[in-house]
Amino acid sequence: MPAHAALGRTPVDLGPAETLLVLRKVLGPLVAEGAIMRRPAVTAWAERRQVDRDLVRTLGSLRDRHGGAPLVLRLGPRRIVVVTEADDVARLLQGTPVPFSAATREKRGALDQFVPHGVLVSTAAGRTVRRPVNEAALDTGRPVHGDADLILEVVDREAHGLLARARERGILDWAAFTDAFTRAAREITLGPTARDDTPLTDTLTALRRAANWSYLHPRRKRLRRDLDSRIRLYARAAPPRTLLGRALARAEQDGTTGIADPAGQVPHWLFAFDAAGSTVFRALAVLASRPEARAAVLAEVIPPTSDHPPLLPASRAAVLEAVRLWPTTLLILRDSTEPTVWGARELPAGTGFAIVSAFFHRDERRLPFAHEFTPGAWSDGRAADDRGIVPFSGGPAACAGRDLVLLVASSWLTRLVAGGNLDLEGRSRYLARDPLPATVDHLGLRFTVGR
Ligand code: HEM
Repeated sequence: MPAHAALGRTPVDLGPAETLLVLRKVLGPLVAEGAIMRRPAVTAWAERRQVDRDLVRTLGSLRDRHGGAPLVLRLGPRRIVVVTEADDVARLLQGTPVPFSAATREKRGALDQFVPHGVLVSTAAGRTVRRPVNEAALDTGRPVHGDADLILEVVDREAHGLLARARERGILDWAAFTDAFTRAAREITLGPTARDDTPLTDTLTALRRAANWSYLHPRRKRLRRDLDSRIRLYARAAPPRTLLGRALARAEQDGTTGIADPAGQVPHWLFAFDAAGSTVFRALAVLASRPEARAAVLAEVIPPTSDHPPLLPASRAAVLEAVRLWPTTLLILRDSTEPTVWGARELPAGTGFAIVSAFFHRDERRLPFAHEFTPGAWSDGRAADDRGIVPFSGGPAACAGRDLVLLVASSWLTRLVAGGNLDLEGRSRYLARDPLPATVDHLGLRFTVGR
């Protein structure tokens, strides 16, 4: 009998018809959208079809039919267990990295293209060295990052420039936004000399596209060497108050530079800033469509002083709510490292587990506010304490960048709301009222900008 006590409901094997249903309505669309780099044509289709609405309904009816038991799919040699109860989400996340490893087969296949030494795909032993280095860089656990003054200066400058250009064009679209956002991300991560290094981001983007295919795509070794050597050039002279500078200092202090590979963590950070950008853009779309929510964010705009970077609670809550409503990590995966007991059944080591974020975040049975924009749920505990609402994952392998994301994203959001006279084109009426659409393609959002 394995060490871990029998918990919860006994998993059920899905038959061919139900397996096909989960593939068609749940896993298929998520994989097609691109887990690592979104595919624009598919995300536009996903919004038209509202694929997340189908996904929530499909998993909800399978949960009801099987009494909340984990759903076991056989996909060739692979066994994937899709959980449908919040308790099981908590068990998987709290049980990371042993007996539930975050370094799953699919994730390793994908991230090996651009961040093979990343903490997320590390063994339990590697994680003990790499996680502290990530936490030091990202200042995990602190709502205001130790280098917030510099970080917010960068955000201010880029947001200001973006708005000036948008006013001239009369339009703010994703291409212009992400250009400015990634400039800021590169500077925060690597220093001012990286601000305009768009080839670095282009190389990363090409590798991320290949990573969408996980282990099915051949390794793009030349591109990866290119990415690696560019980042290592920055590492030679990284300013101490950058994410990379902080990581290097921590590894040096721990005497772990070789194994922790601080420069090798950078591609994850740059890639993950993309999720922060899409969340800001979706939150901006909601605020542009809702005067009351916008007023709450504007009310907290005070002249920032470098001694006290503002916490912006309303803006942070809007960001959190946007990432609850439209999670950017579509699937959270785990592989068991040893046999695990679930109810009356033992599942072998190497079983894959999947948490479908959108299902838990929009679960009407648990959440009366499932489809409503409810930023207050983040301050009164309804969202923050819910075991199924996990936009930043949870447990020992939870997003190490969460606090930094909230600082950076809320600052971007507030600056754009305060500085731009923005009107959302087209979708405004869908976002102005509840229930909110299950799928929103951030790549297609466009605002007209008043002068
Ligand atoms: C809206 C923005 C973001 C969201 C929603 C998000 C969400 C997540 C999630 C769900 C995971 C766990 C993935 C898994 O278990 O497979 C994760 C891991 C991680 N994230 Fe984020 N992330 C965001 C942005 C960032 C940023 C900007 C950084 C760094 C600058 C970052 C750093 C990390 C790191 C280092 C891990 C790995 C943690 C570990 O394995 O111990 N994230 N993130």
